Amino acid sequence: MKEKILIVDDDVDTLRLIGLMLQRQGYQIVAANHGNQALRMARDEAPDLILLDIMMPDLDGYEVTRRIRKDNQTRDIPILLFTAKSLVEDRVTGLEAGADGYLVKPVQPHQLFEQIKDILERRRKAAGPVARVQRGQVTGILAVKGGVGISTLAANLGVSLHTKSRQEVIVAEFRPGEGSLALDLGWSEADGLAKLLEREPSNLTAEDIETSLVRHPSGIRLLLSSYRAGDAHYRSLGDEMSAIARWLPDLAGFVLLDLGPGIYPATEKVLGHCDNLVVALDPFPYSITRTKVMIQDLAAKGFAGDLLQIVLINRARINGSLTLNQAQELLNQTIEVAFSPVPELAFQAACQNQILVTQDPDGPIAQQCARLADRLMGKVLQAT
Ligand SMILES: Nc1ncnc2c1ncn2[C@@H]1O[C@H](COP(=O)(O)OP(=O)(O)OP(=O)(O)O)[C@@H](O)[C@H]1O
Ligand SMILES: [Mg+2]
Repeated sequence: MKEKILIVDDDVDTLRLIGLMLQRQGYQIVAANHGNQALRMARDEAPDLILLDIMMPDLDGYEVTRRIRKDNQTRDIPILLFTAKSLVEDRVTGLEAGADGYLVKPVQPHQLFEQIKDILERRRKAAGPVARVQRGQVTGILAVKGGVGISTLAANLGVSLHTKSRQEVIVAEFRPGEGSLALDLGWSEADGLAKLLEREPSNLTAEDIETSLVRHPSGIRLLLSSYRAGDAHYRSLGDEMSAIARWLPDLAGFVLLDLGPGIYPATEKVLGHCDNLVVALDPFPYSITRTKVMIQDLAAKGFAGDLLQIVLINRARINGSLTLNQAQELLNQTIEVAFSPVPELAFQAACQNQILVTQDPDGPIAQQCARLADRLMGKVLQAT
């Protein structure tokens, strides 16, 4: 994915001009025109670098820098101050506040590009190859409507990834009040997510999250959502959800987020922490139409090509149902995997708190999950 730069300036012309120049250099750009907005976007967008003006009407750039450094979720983001303030004392104040670099306006474009490249390169080196490999891959799973089968998919795909990669896998339900994995897999209590959502997001640590996870006998770990309908109000807690999504990849090689149906404001925030997405649909013409629109919206947010896999879930055997080819044609997109209908097996699995791929390891769902797992692990697949 392109590296993302957050540009912060109260002058809209500067924002536009610098944004365009950096976009042409291949960066993804997001912009804020005051300090408080910059703090929000630093959390929501998880940029790779912040280009920050100092003189702004609400919070100045020094204060923004200090607050970004104080917040667990944003403290490692490099900051390049970009300002008309040219005194040595200003530079010292900026660097003391925690900035990584200081550039005085006006500046030649090549100087700006070089500074940005240097800082990003330094950051990559500081992270080191080991640290980067250790940070897990986050895959969001979503659909246009409920009941398509994405929680079942998340759990089964999680087991498949765990078996194949031998890495830690976390399946996290981001469905407050609408969780299903606790009951499906044998827990009567499911307050892991709700407890974390009640915390102040900037104080949350990886350790807090670790203690909220439960381990399933298959080896995967789960962050469970409550199934108490009254807890659905937690769904609006985007900053809190975003903070959880930010820490999860520190704890596992693969993180699967069950994001449920639709793109809510909270979903938007969590998408900022997803490396790639799986969009699931069922084989009904109107689902295909709605999914097509969702795919366009997600492409506009940078999830296209290899970063977005589409899967078809057939939950029932329906005579005369759309074929895979027909669905692909209507969707005008390749469907990576089509899951077979296994209603009896799905029912038994739920009654016995089992996972389909463990219950029937050589069956179609296990094979289809393995195929999707290979894709997410970056293996090249042969067309089948
Ligand atoms: N391949 C399949 N064949 C038959 N039934 C399936 C299949 N996949 C999932 N199901 C069943 O479909 C139902 C819905 O699945 P699931 O709960 O995973 O959907 P969901 O998209 O997470 O729904 P919700 O929006 O309620 O969270 C469940 O009863 C599940 O057992
Ligand atoms: Mg579900």
